Amino acid sequence: MTTSPQRAETARLVKEAADIVTVIGEHVQLKRSGANLKGVCPFHAEKTPSFMVQPERQTFHCFGCGEGGDVFTFVMKYHNLTFPEALQELAQRFNVTLPERAGGGGQDQEQAQKRQALLDANEQAAILYHRLLLEAPEAADARAYLAKRGVPAELAERFRLGYAPNRWDFLVKALPTAGLDLEMALAAGLIVKKEHGGFYDRFRDRVQFPILNLSGQIVGFGGRILGDGQPKYLNSPESPVFEKGRVLFGLYQNREAVRQARRCLLVEGNFDLLALLAHGFANAAAPLGTALTPAHIRTLKGYCDETILLFDGDTAGEKAATRAVPLFLSEQVTARVVLLPGSHDPDTFLAEYGAEELTKMLAEAQSLPEFFFASLVRRHGLTVEGKSRIVSELGPVIAAIGDNQMQRTVFVAHFSEKLGIAPAQMLGGVSRLAVLPRAASSVRAADQALTLSLQERQLLEFLIAYPEYVERFLAAGLADLVTSSGATEILARLQALGGEEQAAGSEYLLDSLVGPERAFVSRVLLNTPAYSVEQREAIAGDQLAWLAREGGRVRRERLTRLLGEAQQANNEALCLELMARLRDMDQGQGVSV
Ligand code: CTP
Ligand code: MN
Repeated sequence: MTTSPQRAETARLVKEAADIVTVIGEHVQLKRSGANLKGVCPFHAEKTPSFMVQPERQTFHCFGCGEGGDVFTFVMKYHNLTFPEALQELAQRFNVTLPERAGGGGQDQEQAQKRQALLDANEQAAILYHRLLLEAPEAADARAYLAKRGVPAELAERFRLGYAPNRWDFLVKALPTAGLDLEMALAAGLIVKKEHGGFYDRFRDRVQFPILNLSGQIVGFGGRILGDGQPKYLNSPESPVFEKGRVLFGLYQNREAVRQARRCLLVEGNFDLLALLAHGFANAAAPLGTALTPAHIRTLKGYCDETILLFDGDTAGEKAATRAVPLFLSEQVTARVVLLPGSHDPDTFLAEYGAEELTKMLAEAQSLPEFFFASLVRRHGLTVEGKSRIVSELGPVIAAIGDNQMQRTVFVAHFSEKLGIAPAQMLGGVSRLAVLPRAASSVRAADQALTLSLQERQLLEFLIAYPEYVERFLAAGLADLVTSSGATEILARLQALGGEEQAAGSEYLLDSLVGPERAFVSRVLLNTPAYSVEQREAIAGDQLAWLAREGGRVRRERLTRLLGEAQQANNEALCLELMARLRDMDQGQGVSV
């Protein structure tokens, strides 16, 4: 793509006007950090902020995933736009006049023009539908329907709700009159092609919900039939401007409320969202009849710290919540869940019990993983057999966590502790392939000869790449948790590295090992990403915290076992001594045996 001098000049003007902090700050919560601003990266899963915005240079950079660039790069990547589109969008927002065809020629320009045409078609359709809803005689039933469903006129206006009349050619006739190309309306899914030529309207006799992206543009519609009938909801098909897995209904309108509450209520239905608003809960969003996706959750991350799933009390709601567990875990977003009683959804619940009751339910929202565990226990019980069934049901959930090692560790530690079983036992129920982190997939071949527990693998992978942390890990009880012979061997070599050798790199380590251990180390070295110092600290912090917890548990187990042996042997002095140590541990003093 060539850049014309004119376009370069326009881009410069837009860049000057469009402050990067303002633009990014709309989608990412930014906090001051010296001369820069810091936030949680919208482009990859993380909890510790490694996304930096530098106002001075008008750039951003993520130390976690390496994404970076200027205000255009951000807008293109975040909204999935081409350069001319980003340019146009920013120009519009910051009142810079674009010369004709400033986008320059080429494919990008064509794409941008097509997307704009789809948005124009949707916008025009929304205007037409909305006008009908407000005043047309033929929309009387639709107005009555909305009134019956408790939607205040003010909300119908704000959400630009509309009515698609019971006609096959409403848009087919009205759009060309308004100067719009029917081919574009077809591509936007507003109309459908007839077999023998001509078009007809897709949406007929429905209440129309415009679906807005985060720039406030209408990317599609959801149409609700009046009363009973099939299908109950009809949505626009996916198009170059509409990806169902990325958009949340209502988030654009509710974004400020979500930001202020630092919490988003996720509901399943369009009317649920409107009912919440009508009852004073403005911080909600809804997926479009699809399962939640990582893209949804990453979007939410830019607006709030916590999500509350507000789902139907029936089995479908419980299923949807369960499916969301690994997703929230792997995206590292705090989630809680409220299951409404009976088969209520938020809309019917509010109609029957009112806002105060809902507030009470929200206050008692359970953490999503706890909810999930409780439902497993309810179904299977905690007998030996029940536990084994729980373990096999956790398998796919663990597998679904993907390549996020830390979350998997936390998840396994969390549930194995609750079940009172060893983490390894829990992983036994999971296919080995499924639990291997992505970075380690090429390590697999070597591992066949080298048997490491999952924890050993994770600890060692980090320490092999960053041996300067060995001392701190040892002090935190590392040796208690490294027990397999291969892992012990590698750890011993790591410990034997002097400071100079650590600094010199990995050859010393490799030289001191043979066979499967050597193969393992060399593959880890090849595959470990070069983390920034900040990231290293964050990872080490997580692992040390885990070590402290897990190490404590292992030491406690050992003391308890020794205590049992001492009791059998009637060794009263040893019993007293061991009991004292256990008591010390309970009081939080790290005692090693
Ligand atoms: N949905 C959809 N397509 C369907 C059914 C549902 O896109 N065939 C989406 C709609 O966005 C709907 C949401 O899923 O709002 C929840 O659907 P459901 O729980 O079945 O309906 P309600 O929202 O309760 O619908 P209503 O209250 O209008 O009866
Ligand atoms: Mn409903």
